[in-house]
Amino acid sequence: MVERTYDENTVIIFDTTLRDGEQSPGATLSSAEKLEIARQLSRLGVDVIEAGFPAASPDDLKAVQRIAKEVGTEDGPSIAGLARAVESDILTAWEGVKDAAKPRIHTFLGTSPSHLAMLRIDKAEGLERIRKAVTLAKSLCDDVEFSPMDAGRTDTEYLIQACAVAVECGATTLNIPDTVGYVMPSEWAETLEMLINETPGAGSGSGIIWSVHCHNDLGLATANTLAGLQKGVRQVEVTINGVGERAGNTSLEEVVMGIHTRKQYYDLRTNIDSTQIMKTSRMVRNYMGMPVQPNKAIVGDNAFAHESGIHQDGVLKNAETFEIMTPETVGLNQSRLVLGKHSGRHALRVRLQELGYDFEGDDLMEIFKRFKKLADAKKTVTDADLEALVADEEAQKPQEFFRLVDIQVSSGTMGMPTATVKLVNQDSEESVIAAVGTGPVDASYRAVDMIINAPNVLVEYSVHSVTEGIDALGEVTVRISPENGGRTFGGYGADGDIIVASVKAYMAALNRMIASIGLGDVQPEGDAATVGISSSN
Ligand code: KIV
Ligand code: ZN
Repeated sequence: MVERTYDENTVIIFDTTLRDGEQSPGATLSSAEKLEIARQLSRLGVDVIEAGFPAASPDDLKAVQRIAKEVGTEDGPSIAGLARAVESDILTAWEGVKDAAKPRIHTFLGTSPSHLAMLRIDKAEGLERIRKAVTLAKSLCDDVEFSPMDAGRTDTEYLIQACAVAVECGATTLNIPDTVGYVMPSEWAETLEMLINETPGAGSGSGIIWSVHCHNDLGLATANTLAGLQKGVRQVEVTINGVGERAGNTSLEEVVMGIHTRKQYYDLRTNIDSTQIMKTSRMVRNYMGMPVQPNKAIVGDNAFAHESGIHQDGVLKNAETFEIMTPETVGLNQSRLVLGKHSGRHALRVRLQELGYDFEGDDLMEIFKRFKKLADAKKTVTDADLEALVADEEAQKPQEFFRLVDIQVSSGTMGMPTATVKLVNQDSEESVIAAVGTGPVDASYRAVDMIINAPNVLVEYSVHSVTEGIDALGEVTVRISPENGGRTFGGYGADGDIIVASVKAYMAALNRMIASIGLGDVQPEGDAATVGISSSN
């Protein structure tokens, strides 16, 4: 358990992976996945988890309530719920977070000319809405955060007025968002300096925490966030892997490792246990089905890889030659050989517990079976392998309308790639269909499509190996969108066979799509007669 301590040099890490991050196209999470990620964020040591936007839907509310109860403990993080500056949103946000030991309501109102115009209000009405919203939030919850949305394109004078009203009504944190990723680091620093110095009741010594929330449209989110720290900002709003709307949010790992690696420069600290970064990054990647670019700072596959001879030679002689931080500080290379094919269920359960996963009863049996299969195929089973197995189990869970039972594929240069796929639906009806395609994955996906009539477009497909070596587990992430457009849905699958992993990832994405847009006319398509292969109950 991370011990969170605070002084004037502590930067509060406010993680919004589960709220702003979940707004990324295709990043929808089930409530079980949200809870797992929240638990891991707590182990990572974040100070505040923005668990969701409770007014968005009853499911969002339930997920926030569960996180508040189960993760928002006395020694855990604060749990925040987002609310527009609207009475019903604020009341629902409170319903979401009230069971946390440290609840927070985060309310916001657009303050830039275009946002005021969108709301059809003028500046004076904007201030009035802020007054009402913060007053109501404060009557429910001690810890209230206010954000003037699109602050990056709001004139400073009006920002000062908006922040002053929020402070007067009881806000304890003032979060300044660059909602559209528009500002430049030096101008952002100037704006923040002016706000901190000139907002009545919110200067240094007032107890008000100033915060920034930056988007990455020009690739400057981390730079802008760090620029704020030099002017007195002491809370940063970030997401794991930088996921978020459009080009994403400021990435937690970049800001935290900037503060830790350049300690002498910033003279600041955080409560983050950086050795948990890689694990958290993989979990978010897997659950959201959002691959991380290989050259992504800190968590990309190549972030610590040295390719050129000169670099390799230098690093072997002295790691500092080309490394400003060690891979171990972010939790890489710590994967130990944990278990082998002779290990029993108890050993697996204990190791999983050490990694932060509780498996009991049938769930334990299921993961044990998969572990045994993997241990038979692979000499060494590492922590990274176990994490991939767990992620795969979780990815298949959310509302399984259809599940993969069996698959047989033939491919190569001597014939047409062919896949035979057996799926089972929620009523335990099995369908078996064979299809040909341009390759084994294409053939398998076509066979699945013939059973599940859910027309879609494959927007992204990526394969990744969990560890090195020919016997490594393969992880596949896919994103699909309905044929007639709209939002995208991600899926993840892991298996020693990448075709099986590919089909599992596709099924996970399809199940999510069906859960979201409804079954509609999505039915197992026909029977043996229609498809000419076979089908059985
Ligand atoms: O980007 C933004 O302005 C937001 C607010 C709700 C803080 O996400
Ligand atoms: Zn945002």
